[in-house]
Amino acid sequence: MDTLNIAGRTLKLVRPGTPAKLPLRPWDAADEYIINEAQDLAKITIINDGFGALGCVLSDHIDHWISDSACASDALNSNLNRNGITAQFHILSPMQMQNANGEVAAIKLPRNASYNHYLIEQLIHQGYREIWFAGMMKHLPKNLLSFLQQFGNVQRLPFVKKATIFKLAVDTPNVKSSGYPKQLNIHGQTLWTHANVFGRDKLDLGAEFFLQHFKSIQSQCQKAQPKVADLCAGSGILGLKFKELAPDSELHFYDESAMAIESCQLSWQANQTDSNVAFHWQDGLENAEPVFDLILCNPPFHENNTVSDHIARRLFKQAKQALAEQGQLYIVANRHLPYQSVLQRMFKHVNQVAQNKKFVILHAHD
Ligand SMILES: C[S@@+](CC[C@H](N)C(=O)[O-])C[C@H]1O[C@@H](n2cnc3c(N)ncnc32)[C@H](O)[C@@H]1O
Repeated sequence: MDTLNIAGRTLKLVRPGTPAKLPLRPWDAADEYIINEAQDLAKITIINDGFGALGCVLSDHIDHWISDSACASDALNSNLNRNGITAQFHILSPMQMQNANGEVAAIKLPRNASYNHYLIEQLIHQGYREIWFAGMMKHLPKNLLSFLQQFGNVQRLPFVKKATIFKLAVDTPNVKSSGYPKQLNIHGQTLWTHANVFGRDKLDLGAEFFLQHFKSIQSQCQKAQPKVADLCAGSGILGLKFKELAPDSELHFYDESAMAIESCQLSWQANQTDSNVAFHWQDGLENAEPVFDLILCNPPFHENNTVSDHIARRLFKQAKQALAEQGQLYIVANRHLPYQSVLQRMFKHVNQVAQNKKFVILHAHD
């Protein structure tokens, strides 16, 4: 637990799911900058608060708190509870921005420029007149200033503790569309991808390699009507391709991104007519019953801007608990990552199914 002293308040904050030995704080200097700048505002909309620090400190100022991430929403709720704060603001996903109506919004800059563009498009459409973009110097995209200038006047505030804020005063109601959601055709499947979805423009190379081995993975699966989880589903390509090979399977798509889960739903509707499917917007397989005969996973290797394998480790642990008796976990991963030994500590049997120059496919079961 970390203590944040700011704006006359002291808060105890956690970054849920992070091992204690990793020195990762649940806020950064860009969050502190937003907090200090927002003190004089009656209302502000907060977007992409990593772990709820902004939601806690600015709770009296916020009208809408918007995040694509189920993990961030969980962290917000946990930190609000820990500090005895009752949130009066609306918590929305970016798929619900038609319900946001304010004057000023502050965005913690996302890694992904398409998502940033989508947020600007939605905010301007909803009538926001001022939009702030806060980030650490090392994470600022090179063309950010010129990109923002197409929407109005931009003022960059001085760097403080290597963080800055770009303040955009919107001067146009006409915004060029971000182009999302977008439709792709990949290996015969129609995929819908929203702006913050991994692999939104093309198939990931790891997923491509994984798919090459799906026939053999499917043939190893003994059940006639297996329950299958596509864990970390993105736009749902893995689950959809598996369903094509095993039409009687029951598919469950899991992702912590609301935009990913919405994309999976759209992709499913575009390719499938049966309703043997469920969609779960949540942290991994947390609280899932041990029902899955097969879990397929192309795990993430970063959380916001932090590259780390602690999320994959957490996902594997959850997967072990969500497997039925004789259930099987298959993952694809960059070959430099130590996942084989991580899995060996959790499962009785772990073997490498395939490898190429960049990736390995691992199979784990008890
Ligand atoms: C490497 S992408 C894989 C996407 C897709 N399955 C593919 O193969 O192209 C990893 C996905 O994990 C999701 N993710 C990250 N952390 C997660 C978590 N804690 N629980 C569930 N999904 C998570 C991300 O939103 C992203 O969609």
